[in-house]
Amino acid sequence: HIPPEIRCALDYETLAPQFIAAPTLAYIAGGSGHDQTVAANRAAYARWAITPRLLRDVSAGHTAITLAGIAMAHPLMLGPVAFHNLVHPGGEHETVRGAAALDCPIIASTQSSCTLEQLARSAGPQRWFQMYLQPQRADTLDLLRRAEAAGYSAIVLTLDAPIQVASLRTLAAQFQLPAHCVPVNLAGYTPAQESAVAPGASRILQGVMAAAPNWDELRWLLTQTRLPVWAKGVMHGDDALALQAAGVAGIIVSNHGGRSLDGAPATLDVLPAIRAAVGKDLPIVFDGGVRSGADVFKALALGANAVAIGRLQLYALAVAGALGVAHMLKLLREELEICMALAGCAHIDHIRATALFHQREHHV
Ligand code: FNR
Repeated sequence: HIPPEIRCALDYETLAPQFIAAPTLAYIAGGSGHDQTVAANRAAYARWAITPRLLRDVSAGHTAITLAGIAMAHPLMLGPVAFHNLVHPGGEHETVRGAAALDCPIIASTQSSCTLEQLARSAGPQRWFQMYLQPQRADTLDLLRRAEAAGYSAIVLTLDAPIQVASLRTLAAQFQLPAHCVPVNLAGYTPAQESAVAPGASRILQGVMAAAPNWDELRWLLTQTRLPVWAKGVMHGDDALALQAAGVAGIIVSNHGGRSLDGAPATLDVLPAIRAAVGKDLPIVFDGGVRSGADVFKALALGANAVAIGRLQLYALAVAGALGVAHMLKLLREELEICMALAGCAHIDHIRATALFHQREHHV
């Protein structure tokens, strides 16, 4: 059941500590390093207000969009998030039931607690697959072919995390992935290995990054599939332009929820420049700190075509399973509709930057 304390989408985050053990919550809520970017993602929304508009007719309004040719009932997706069985025994199967109830497309993580084939059997029709370029091209290809065979309709290539950066908060909580959280999708593949480095060389630059993918790998991957490929982790207009030129179907503006480069700017703050760089036609999915329909509205106003939900799906899953996920999405959509109604936007493409009011920071 849904606890009566849940009155808005954000309440799932507020209530999550009652349903998730403290070290696990530290792992999920934390970012990397000092969590500066986690905080920045959230703080960015508070600098924008939504301007009310009067007497506009929104009675024929709706939240439907077309994203890269796909008809969607609303501009929400579930982003790729590892190991749902950390917070619910049903894992991703439970999450995708909730998503399907709201016609919400999902982006399945490579690091799911079940295989992509198992997940395909419980997920709704709109399912995308998130992957990383593997150290061996043969493994990358195998993963790609499996996703194609299982009926995933797009590939999301996450490019922003060639190094795993711990969060000090997670380290302090002494969190360890439990034994039942293993990346089953990658069984049999060659894992990334740190190269031995010469004395005086850098363990990071020559050791860890030696095997990291580069632009050639990306261009190669794009020649290997007919599925649309989206690039996730874009934070700079020049990268967005280069990806567009390379032929991606769209980009996901994301800083990995603050879990990669600590000190990266808020996604909301870089979004306008990225939209300006690529022009109006390249589809942009946005994520980072989205906890309310107003947050969704602001991201759409600043250039996103759709918005992906990260942590909030795990919180909703922990609190109330599939029902919680469906309810969280319904609340987000209603909160978005309220903003649209009062800002006089009948359709998603009426939501423009002119609907926002930039607030100066208050110094007390
Ligand atoms: C993630 N994220 C992520 N991204 C990805 O491409 N592959 C993955 O396996 C994961 N795993 C993952 C686990 C956990 C616990 C979190 C919190 C995040 C990043 C995710 O897709 C998304 O970019 C952020 O979560 C968005 O920020 P919010 O909505 O969580 O604030």
